Amino acid sequence: MNILIMGPAGAGKGTMSELILKAYDIPHISTGDMLRENVRNNTELGKLAKTYMEAGKLVPDDVINAMVEDRLQQPDCQKGYLLDGFPRTLVQAEAFTKIAEKIGKPVESVIALEVEFDTLAERITGRRICPKCGAIYHIKSHPPVVEGICDVCGGELTQRKDDTIEQLKVRMDEYDSSTAPVIAFYDKLGVVSRIDGAQPREQVFAEIQEALGKIA
Ligand code: AP5
Ligand code: MG
Repeated sequence: MNILIMGPAGAGKGTMSELILKAYDIPHISTGDMLRENVRNNTELGKLAKTYMEAGKLVPDDVINAMVEDRLQQPDCQKGYLLDGFPRTLVQAEAFTKIAEKIGKPVESVIALEVEFDTLAERITGRRICPKCGAIYHIKSHPPVVEGICDVCGGELTQRKDDTIEQLKVRMDEYDSSTAPVIAFYDKLGVVSRIDGAQPREQVFAEIQEALGKIA
């Protein structure tokens, strides 16, 4: 299965990806997670990406395209891919069309999660993540068993630097101006399923499964 999951900051892309990858056994490729790992390891890419990410701005297209092209050539992508947070600009979408052709895996389904600003704000300010294994929590709607500790790996939970209302506004502006046109791009191919991401997790996932059932 070759899937893209899209939606604004806090829409639930990472949360739903955790469920999709368990159900369909395809690699979850989140450009945000890859960049954060580079920032943590202080690589050249991480140093470059850090300032953009902390400001809520998009990292330059050429950097992202090269990173994704490299990742999609890894052997686990023979099974397909679940791309989370890419492509986010029309330049990335066009580059990705070529990459997908090159590896013989064109996009089959685009899941577009739709959520209003106030809900996004509540979600991202309450989000906690495990930097070790990537698990995603929320202090109210999905707290860990032991406060501050990851249920999966025992790692210490942290808050993302870009998870503030101020940065959320910048991320939303970036989404509206650069990423919404990408959904329109895939609409023309007839592969987009719009899903109300403000529903409870189980319901959102059930609707995703229904959409993916059409390509399975
Ligand atoms: P990225 O990491 O992709 O961030 P984002 O798009 O802003 O999305 P988030 O990860 O914040 O939200 P999510 O939709 O995954 O929500 P989650 O499931 O965690 O990118 C970060 C930055 O990296 C960008 O700003 C940019 O700088 C750079 N970048 C990345 N990709 C790039 C690209 N392609 N080009 C250029 N730059 C790029 O859920 C959020 C919270 O809500 C959690 O607490 C969760 O528990 C809760 N929740 C989820 N679903 C539900 C539900 N149904 N009900 C109740 N609570 C829920
Ligand atoms: Mg995410």
